Amino acid sequence: MLSIRDLTAGYGDTQVLFGTTLDVRPGEVTAIIGSNGVGKTTLLRTISGLIKPTGGSITHNGVEIGGRPSDDIVERGIVLVPEGRRLFPRMSVRRNLELGAYSKRARKHLAERLQYVFDLFPILKEREQQLGGTLSGGQQQMCAIARGLVAMPEVLMLDEVSLGLAPVAIARVYEAIKAIRDTGVTLLIVEQNISQALSVADRAYVIQHGRVAMSGTGRELAQNADVKRVYLGLAPQREDAK
Ligand SMILES: Nc1ncnc2c1ncn2[C@@H]1O[C@H](COP(=O)(O)OP(=O)(O)OP(=O)(O)O)[C@@H](O)[C@H]1O
Ligand SMILES: [Mg+2]
Repeated sequence: MLSIRDLTAGYGDTQVLFGTTLDVRPGEVTAIIGSNGVGKTTLLRTISGLIKPTGGSITHNGVEIGGRPSDDIVERGIVLVPEGRRLFPRMSVRRNLELGAYSKRARKHLAERLQYVFDLFPILKEREQQLGGTLSGGQQQMCAIARGLVAMPEVLMLDEVSLGLAPVAIARVYEAIKAIRDTGVTLLIVEQNISQALSVADRAYVIQHGRVAMSGTGRELAQNADVKRVYLGLAPQREDAK
């Protein structure tokens, strides 16, 4: 579905992505993990058309989309939920959700898209008329994800959705990610909460210095001794030490 090959990108003279190669397969959850500042957000912003790649390619269903404007990318069904939620605190939940339907693709289907997100997140239906700023952190994150879903994504990209949330809210967000996948939406998630991300990921990539250092199924990486040591802070098990 999305195929990224030898992608390079950065900010002015600062190169951040040094030849990133990965695939996002239809119907799967793909997770990208890595330490602070390795380029995870830069990768999502480059796919979204917010940063122009300096080299390599991004293809969507076989069509080169690298460097296209962000509106085109959204019209193709590739939608980013950026880090930090960014709801309009003084607008109602419903109004915040409606703003997700700014693309031509979604505008005609607003009523059915709202129904779809209210079915996924009944709490948002209950709070429909409440102001965005009065929701709890977890509910605001649900609302931000739901706004992305109103845009009719084929691929929904989530940047650090569990950041700053209480454990119970994180668990709910991850239940929601599985429920979204079960409706047929492909997900690309970037996470600092690595054990959660790997537990839901069909496929995961570890990024170091703007390149893929390791990849595998979520389960393989969760059991990988290097991943455990570096990212999960666990001592290697005896078999691994042999
Ligand atoms: N607007 C910008 N201008 C210049 N440099 C930037 C800009 N945004 C990010 N960078 C730099 O690019 C590098 C990669 O940043 P990026 O935000 O992609 O990392 P990340 O993997 O998402 O990290 P985090 O886990 O902190 O979210 C960092 O060194 C960062 O300082
Ligand atoms: Mg980031």
